[in-house]
Parts: sequence; structure tokens; C-alpha cells
Amino acid sequence: MIQMLDLKREYEYMKSDVDRAISEALGHQAWIMGPEVKKLEERVAAHVGTKFAIGCASGTDALVLALRALAFKRTGQEYFAPGDEIITTPFTFTATGDAILRAGATPVFVDIDPATFNIDPALVRQAVNGRTVGIIPVHLYGQACAMDEILDTAAKAGLFVLEDVAQAFGAADRGRKCGAMGDAGGFSFFPSKNLGGFGDGGMITTNDPELAVMCDMLRKHGGKDKYNVEHLGYNSRLDTLQAAILLAKLNHIDAFNERRKMIAAEYSLALAGVPGVVVPPPSRNGEHVFHQYTIRSAKREDLAAKLKQRGVASMVYYSVPLHRMRVFAGRSRIDGALAESELAAAEVLSLPIEPLLTPEEMGMVIAAVKAGTE
Ligand SMILES: Cc1ncc(COP(=O)(O)O)c(C=O)c1O
Repeated sequence: MIQMLDLKREYEYMKSDVDRAISEALGHQAWIMGPEVKKLEERVAAHVGTKFAIGCASGTDALVLALRALAFKRTGQEYFAPGDEIITTPFTFTATGDAILRAGATPVFVDIDPATFNIDPALVRQAVNGRTVGIIPVHLYGQACAMDEILDTAAKAGLFVLEDVAQAFGAADRGRKCGAMGDAGGFSFFPSKNLGGFGDGGMITTNDPELAVMCDMLRKHGGKDKYNVEHLGYNSRLDTLQAAILLAKLNHIDAFNERRKMIAAEYSLALAGVPGVVVPPPSRNGEHVFHQYTIRSAKREDLAAKLKQRGVASMVYYSVPLHRMRVFAGRSRIDGALAESELAAAEVLSLPIEPLLTPEEMGMVIAAVKAGTE
């Protein structure tokens, strides 16, 4: 079976680096906020191109901490005020939307651009009203949102921009790295991500010293001194051990992202003319890092079943858009029809695209898709 992601194979590939990193951590035993956490923060900040990077326990927490810090910066209050609206996409993982709720604001869902699956910047502009405080663009599947228009809308209306970079480590938009364009970026190191740990982990990037200080406090109970805190914080530190593993894996991220782009290009070349299949947009300027390679098919379930019969895994990200989830009922606002998000949710299918796929495996995936659509 060709899996979506073979983490054992990836571990074997970088075993000596990872084992060395773990054994160094075993040597010093500084498990909480050990030296690897700071080193990873410095290296991620340098990679993304921001002044600060603050490690935390997950990508979800990265969004929550950043939002809480943004709320505090706006008004000096711990949470957003009831009725404060944050515009985002419904075609994302639930964490994007529930982070907004956790920070006390109301998610406003606007539709996506069907070509990229990312939030439509023209609809973002239309959705802004007197209650809007910020925008969370999600760089879905490893592709940057159209940031120029989003940043322009935000600047004109005095809104913050928090980038959800969970799926897009290393991606960029016209030379600007994802996570460095907005007021802050939230990264996830969930094991399946382009840069994934051996457990949960996350990071916030920002150029704003006020946000950096607040996120740092919030991740450790809400104070500079955890025995005398000022804010209602969390225990959301990035584990030393995860940081050590991520440092080892960071050495491979650029080469791995290049492999993903190459595999995507091969898939698209082979699948572009296949009837009933829409291939994803190419890597504009080589900046799409293909966390997922996602095709569209009106007969998705049938295709997925046929792929399985031929030993090829596939996954649907995401079959239920956020505005259809019960958790958001009555505490979000829908702006427009969201028809493209609904259609995408019914048609998307992601194929295996891990960097260590062999040419034979890529050939099997392509052959299976072609056979599955006959
Ligand atoms: C778009 C998006 N946002 C946020 C998250 C949350 O990250 P985590 O699972 O690390 O909490 C994820 C991933 O799971 C994601 O894909």
C-alpha cells in the first residue's frame, strides 16, 4: 500500500541526525524550555525571516496565543470583545475557526477561490464591516494566499492579519515567506506537516516585540514569572525533545519541499488531461510547497475506492466546511453563499506526496488515478 505519508521511512532516512539530537537531549535532561527550544526558535525565525519565533505546544495553540496577544495589543483586554469579528475561510481545519472562538471573537466565513482553495481576497474586502478586527488567511495545502490584496484590505481598515501557516512551512508569496507577511504567523509541527515532530508542537512568528513578549508570557501561564502572573495564560510550551527532533529535521526541509514540488509537477504533467480530474495549480514561482497534492473529481468516493483497490491511499481534506460544523452554529457569521467551499468539500481528494516517494511509487499513483477515472 502506498501510504499518504510513511513516517517510518522518513525516520530511517534521517535516523542518524534525529538519534544524535535525542541523545544530546538525554544527556542534559533540560526537558522544559531546554536549549533546543531557543535554538529552534532562532532557526525558524531566520528561515521565515521574522525577528521573533515563539515555540508552543501545537499549531492550534499558536493561533490561540497569537490571537490573545493581538486582542491585548488592540484594547489592553485579555480577550476580544463579544461581537468582534475575524474573517477567515470555512475550507480549513477546525482549529482555525475554534481558535477565534477561544479568543472571544466571532468567526466570519467567506468563500474561497476555486482555483487555489484559498480565501478569496475580493470577498474578504466585501466582508469587512465596523465590527471586523482581523483576518486569518490560511495557506492551505502549502500554497500562499493572495496576500497583497489581503494586506491592503487590512491596512486600509486597520485590521490585523494572522497567517495560519500550519500547512505551509517554507512557502512564500512573491518572495515573502509565509508567516512573515502578516502581524503574526501560526505554525504547526504535527507529525504529518512538512516540518513535523514526533508529537504535537507549534510556533508563532512575528516582527512585533509586543506580540512576542505576550505570546511568550501566555505560553507559560501568563507571566514573565510563572509564580506571579499578570494574564490568564496556558501551559503551552514546546517540548525540548520535540525541538531537538525538529532541529534535526529542519536541515532537510528545503530539499524535502523541493521534492514535493517536483512530485507535484510530475503528477500534474501526467494527470492534466485525464477526463474528470482537475489538477491543482502549479507552484507559482516555485513557492507552493505542496503539503498536499489535491485533485478534484465529481466522483471522488468512487475514485478513492478504486485507488484503494490498487494499493494507493488517498485522503479528503476537508469533507465538512467549518460553517457546517455544529461547534460554529450560532456563534459564527456566514458572509455570502460559500458555494465554492461546499463544492470543494464534495470534490477534493489528496494523493500521496511525501518527499521520499520513489519514481515507481509515483508511477503507481498516476496509473491508479488514470485507471480509476476510466
Ligand atoms: C490549517 C490548519 N490550522 C491549524 C492546525 C492546527 O495545528 P495542530 O494540529 O498542531 O494543533 C492545522 C493542523 O492540524 C491545520 O491544518
